Amino acid sequence: MDTFPSANVDLTVDGITHRIAVDPRTTLLDALRERLGHASPKKGCDHGQCGSCTVLLDGRQHLTCLALALSYDGAEITTAAGLGAEGMHPVQQAFLDHDGYQCGYCTPGQVCSAVGMLDEAAQGQPSHVTEDLSRPTTLEDLTDAEIRERMSGNLCRCGAYVGILDAIREAAGG
Ligand code: FES
Ligand code: FES
Repeated sequence: MDTFPSANVDLTVDGITHRIAVDPRTTLLDALRERLGHASPKKGCDHGQCGSCTVLLDGRQHLTCLALALSYDGAEITTAAGLGAEGMHPVQQAFLDHDGYQCGYCTPGQVCSAVGMLDEAAQGQPSHVTEDLSRPTTLEDLTDAEIRERMSGNLCRCGAYVGILDAIREAAGG
């Protein structure tokens, strides 16, 4: 098999900056899990289809299994573990209170997506199902249909969707 020269990449993960040399084919998910020991983002499909590898990347929800680590030199990454490092994040608490999980494998990705999408909605960004595009959205606009659409990239094989929806509705203030 051909080998490629490795290159350095700086990644700040949950507040700590690391410089690692990576093969240019290394995904961000493998860099996080295999090189830096962050087990919070999960490898589900490894094909961009399940959302279990979601982190917050520069504040926005982002899949890591299809991202090449080298493309994210200097990025600030927050994992679900990082969100809860200084006490339970309100979204994590809501998942706990509403049984928004069973096995928990999808949960770190679900939590990161929920935090990211709540932030997007609060900043006025519409979704595919937003009806009134004449004004910026607010958290009050997060109907169940809005939440389902904005979370549609995160699958749960245990089918804990009712609890996940309840948790996010509560975290949105509804
Ligand atoms: Fe990344 Fe499934 S592991 S989307
Ligand atoms: Fe098991 Fe979602 S809680 S996959």
